[in-house]
Amino acid sequence: MGPAKPSGSQRLIVALDTTEPARAAEWARASGPCVGLFKLGLEFFLANGAAGYRQIAEAQSSRPIFLDLKLHDIPNTVAGGVRAVLPLAPRFLTLHAAGGSAMIAAARRAAEEAGEQRPLLLAVTVLTSLDAAALAETGVAGGPTQQVLRLARMAMAAGADGLVCSPKEVSVLRDALGDGPALVVPGIRPAGADRGDQARTMTPQEAIAAGADWIVVGRPITGATDPAAAAAAIGASIA
Ligand code: C5P
Repeated sequence: MGPAKPSGSQRLIVALDTTEPARAAEWARASGPCVGLFKLGLEFFLANGAAGYRQIAEAQSSRPIFLDLKLHDIPNTVAGGVRAVLPLAPRFLTLHAAGGSAMIAAARRAAEEAGEQRPLLLAVTVLTSLDAAALAETGVAGGPTQQVLRLARMAMAAGADGLVCSPKEVSVLRDALGDGPALVVPGIRPAGADRGDQARTMTPQEAIAAGADWIVVGRPITGATDPAAAAAAIGASIA
């Protein structure tokens, strides 16, 4: 059985991509009422570390945090990294499926040391920035979809709780793996929004209809003139 799935605007995750804790806190405050979780990634965490993380977590009382560190190293080192963030109690933690099944299993064992409130492990399969040609450069023939499926099956069998995937992969993964995996989906743009550097996007409603459990939205909210209104509109569109 997979993790409990949310409903309504609890399915909205806001990516707080900045090095500035005050800015992240302001985005979190503005979007907070209509959001399930906040995502802190490499940019924020490398600049501010655990202290910055706690600042955001505490300002948001009990709002869970998705710590997007995309861990990828030998099993012992990744397990040590997971253990190091357990005191922060993130709800989700990411790691690269390409690290292999032993790495994922080691991460899962380390996460379980936190007991029932352990972080859920989300595997990243193929970065959406890699197309078939870029993948071939890394030695992977056969194209992204085949590789996404291969890594997704392996990651779930090794102990991942879910997957980060692009909007266009959601239905393929649901068909192949069923309802069990938590699917967390970035690359979301409200109708009419600037796509930025995201090449293949879906609207929030389209992604949910395709089978996403959570959607991750950054710049359409954090780059809006009125982030609170932008978050409210997206939350309402999936409520
Ligand atoms: O601003 P935007 O809505 O594009 O932000 C999307 C967030 O999701 C960013 O934090 C980005 O790092 C993350 N992400 C992504 N595509 C992936 C994995 C993560 O855009 N394949």
